[in-house]
Amino acid sequence: MTEKKIGMIPGTGKQSQGIALRIAQAGYKVMIGSRSTEKAKTIAEELNAKLSVSSFYGDENKEVVKQCDILFFVVPPENICSTLEDLGLYIKTDAIIVDVIVPLAFKAGLAYCSENMCLEQFDYPSVSEYIQASIPEGVSVVGAFKTISAAKLNRLNHPLDVDVFLTSDELEAKDVLKEIISKIEGLRVLDAGPLAFSRTTEQMTAFVININKLNKLKHASFRVISAGTKKQN
Ligand SMILES: NC(=O)c1ccc[n+]([C@@H]2O[C@H](COP(=O)([O-])OP(=O)(O)OC[C@H]3O[C@@H](n4cnc5c(N)ncnc54)[C@H](OP(=O)(O)O)[C@@H]3O)[C@@H](O)[C@H]2O)c1
Repeated sequence: MTEKKIGMIPGTGKQSQGIALRIAQAGYKVMIGSRSTEKAKTIAEELNAKLSVSSFYGDENKEVVKQCDILFFVVPPENICSTLEDLGLYIKTDAIIVDVIVPLAFKAGLAYCSENMCLEQFDYPSVSEYIQASIPEGVSVVGAFKTISAAKLNRLNHPLDVDVFLTSDELEAKDVLKEIISKIEGLRVLDAGPLAFSRTTEQMTAFVININKLNKLKHASFRVISAGTKKQN
């Protein structure tokens, strides 16, 4: 099991709580960040109580960034630029950022992926690529959990039974994440290629939201089907 410290920026939202709970169920400790220390500590206590564990510890985002080696970025898309401005300086030089952000916009009740959710100068084709371009060299970015809903992650009594797609240009970082996430019951980890494929996973999220809505489905999600695995040569 990795010795690396895992933190959520922030750990107080719906998506980050769902991911944090699942990671803690897999046996890891998770630091819960927030802009407010008090809120972080309260949510950490709530999560500990939910699982009857002492795996969560709350502190303000800056402290989490300073202490953790693996940082899940789960801020609203329109706040990623300011979050990086505020916290970028404190990120460890060899940290891994796990980008969970999906820049959604809604038009006539349907979800679309917007390239302009952040600042006006946000002209990157995916949030993951924006983050990679904005952080110091040595810090890796892995896209993950973009296609899995908070509703599904937080239903702890229901099997997940979904695939999680990892995108990154850094194979080592992908392996570290793979080791952690593959311990979560009901999640299959799939390598989804370089970081540029976060464009696809971000679009897939808008797509599945619309599939749910237009077809009156509940918790539709992604599971890739295949005829088994190829033998290694
Ligand atoms: N919900 C889903 O099903 C889902 C699925 C895939 C991806 N995602 C992605 O996950 C991210 C979070 O979604 P969510 O549904 O969990 O949202 P949420 O429940 O609204 O939580 C977002 C958190 O962001 C923090 N926040 C709010 N305003 C902020 C600001 N101005 N600057 C910095 N932080 C701020 C708040 O934490 P503090 O007040 O504690 O700082 C809040 O708890 C989004 O980027 C979304 O695209 C969500």
